[in-house]
Amino acid sequence: ADPELAQVGRFVYNRGNPFSGVAACADCHGAAGHGTDRLPRLGGQHAQYVENQLKAFSKRERTNDNAVMHTIASKLTELELKAVAAYVSGLK
Ligand code: HEC
Repeated sequence: ADPELAQVGRFVYNRGNPFSGVAACADCHGAAGHGTDRLPRLGGQHAQYVENQLKAFSKRERTNDNAVMHTIASKLTELELKAVAAYVSGLK
């Protein structure tokens, strides 16, 4: 775990990236990333898993491809993607 990377991820998760038009993850996924019947759980997921899902959304490789997540994931930089993955993996 890299606390500084997770701090960047915390910003992205809670605020998105207002400079590149990325919506805050927390707006849909909730502050703690708890799943709902319509949203998969993010909190506590393995960072590598989250990273892989975001890359798959970005490349439209997921079979249950979701237009919203594609738009978001395709705008994330490599740093933002790894940072947000590190942050959610630390959420309880
Ligand atoms: C506008 C609402 C919305 C926002 C904002 C949003 N998401 Fe999502 N996200 C969804 C929905 C809906 C799904 C379920 C998609 C599906 O499986 O078809 C999802 C799925 C995911 C998944 C897949 C999880 C799994 O186990 O399959 C990840 C990872 C994810 N989101 C990360 C993020 C991150 C990181 C951000 C912020 C950069 C974000 N999301 C912002 C709505 C949103």
